[in-house]
Amino acid sequence: MTAEASFARWRDRIESQLDAALPSPAEAPLKLHQAMRYSVLGGGKRMRPLLVYASGLLFGADMARLDAPAMAVELIHAYSLVHDDLPAMDDDALRRGKPTTHVAFDEATAILAGDALQARAFGLLADAAMPAHLRVACLQTLAHAAGAAGMCGGQALDIDATGQLQSLQALTRMHALKTGALIRAAVRMGALCGEAPEPVLADLDAFADALGLAFQVRDDILDVEASSEQLGKTAGKDQAQAKSTFPALLGMDGAKAHLRTLAERMEHRLAGYREEADPLRALARLAVERDH
Ligand code: IPE
Ligand code: IPE
Ligand code: MG
Ligand code: MG
Ligand code: MG
Repeated sequence: MTAEASFARWRDRIESQLDAALPSPAEAPLKLHQAMRYSVLGGGKRMRPLLVYASGLLFGADMARLDAPAMAVELIHAYSLVHDDLPAMDDDALRRGKPTTHVAFDEATAILAGDALQARAFGLLADAAMPAHLRVACLQTLAHAAGAAGMCGGQALDIDATGQLQSLQALTRMHALKTGALIRAAVRMGALCGEAPEPVLADLDAFADALGLAFQVRDDILDVEASSEQLGKTAGKDQAQAKSTFPALLGMDGAKAHLRTLAERMEHRLAGYREEADPLRALARLAVERDH
């Protein structure tokens, strides 16, 4: 089966798993439950769950064991998008081709839906069907990646840096935290579920670091070059809001050259694996070449 055919199956799988894991839209509090489902279901590339599956299968983990970490990381990601779009942050009206959650519902509901998605993510991992030591390792990995030392920390740096020109080092650190941390957690949780040994985990971290950075550099490039229809979110926002981005710092050619360097780094990091790493290689290409 080609990697793309596997991804189509895995996307279907994660969609139905998430559907079952979210609270009923017919049960109170209705608006909260509906906003949670609205924010998660029926959209998104599902890059992070695909990374959990691809990295887990590389080490022979069962698909069934990978479902909980795959869902958990997507729920944290979805919550981060709901909050990223709020008026207090990027103030965006379009996400995944639909009105953002605070526009479709209201701000209080969007804040609470994000909070509840985060709690659900950790609840799913805590209840996951896997040996206790792996459950704890996944919980530690995701908690670290979601918090002040990860995504939230990166979002704080992003807000602080708005309107400023940062050094390449500072910009890289911001991207590594706000986007890289969850991507790295996805790859690591998959490998943990396959009981990969520590040196292998460290090696994969280096691959995932490059992938996470590449993913956000590509996001910055697409914000300039793609249309809102293509992206399903408002294009051109970064410049309009004076965000600190790779194209703003390095110019478009410089940002693209940087992306090519990251692609080479990822290839190099996977060079020791045979075709069993092809899904991870395909996801690395997707991060670099994606058009939405
Ligand atoms: C968007 O993430 C925000 C970033 C971290 C760059 P994605 O591009 O993965 O968004 P969805 O999940 O496909 O909507
Ligand atoms: C957001 O980065 C990263 C998150 C942690 C949500 P952006 O602000 O660039 O994401 P988009 O472009 O709104 O998807
Ligand atoms: Mg943002
Ligand atoms: Mg944003
Ligand atoms: Mg962006």
